[in-house]
Amino acid sequence: MRTVRLAPSILTADFARLAEAVQEAEGGGADLLHLDVMDGRFVPNITFGHAVVEALRKVTSLPFDIHLMVSEPERQVGFYTEAAETVNVHIEATDHINRTLDLIRKGGAEAGVCLNPGTPLAAIEESLPEVDQVMVMTINPGWGGQTLMPAQLEKVARLRALLDEGGHGARIEIDGGVKVENAATCAAAGADVLVCGSSVYNDRSSVAENLASLRAALAAGS
Ligand code: DX5
Ligand code: ZN
Repeated sequence: MRTVRLAPSILTADFARLAEAVQEAEGGGADLLHLDVMDGRFVPNITFGHAVVEALRKVTSLPFDIHLMVSEPERQVGFYTEAAETVNVHIEATDHINRTLDLIRKGGAEAGVCLNPGTPLAAIEESLPEVDQVMVMTINPGWGGQTLMPAQLEKVARLRALLDEGGHGARIEIDGGVKVENAATCAAAGADVLVCGSSVYNDRSSVAENLASLRAALAAGS
């Protein structure tokens, strides 16, 4: 069974105390930190940009998994490559995906491509050799706390087969609605990385307790 990494998203954390929120994830055993950049155009919501990412870079050693929900990401990827392990861009947001992926890699980060729920796998098939990670959105992007769309897990399984058959080493990341109840199913579908937003940052339990519950669910399902 492949090792699944957990990437808490700070989208539902308290934005007035982001540094502590990030450190809670690190102390709780997170593998990565998922940072959702939204521009109010590609998605209606606006979150934060590279100034906040750079400030957070100074308070944690967790690798950063940056999710750019912005139009024309090729104009912005250069702001993020130094801070990030992976910079992820949406296939729907750029006219020249291969050039954008190349820009990310030349900047020294790994390149990820994201698919909205309505986007078929065929849209990225030709770019797979240029890709280090494929992010399958299991919600319509824009907000945390939504419900995972089960049909998208079939897309994940088809992507897993496509990558394995083609000998591509790209990771699969699932973003949206990952919870204790479905984490093992997400892993079984073929995910390598699970983004967990409201299942980690919520009022019910601490960040560390929530991460432990997700790990236990993964271990029980494997
Ligand atoms: C939404 C973001 C997600 C979000 C996930 O557009 O891309 O990363 O934080 O939040 P949950 O896990 O609550 O669905
Ligand atoms: Zn995200």
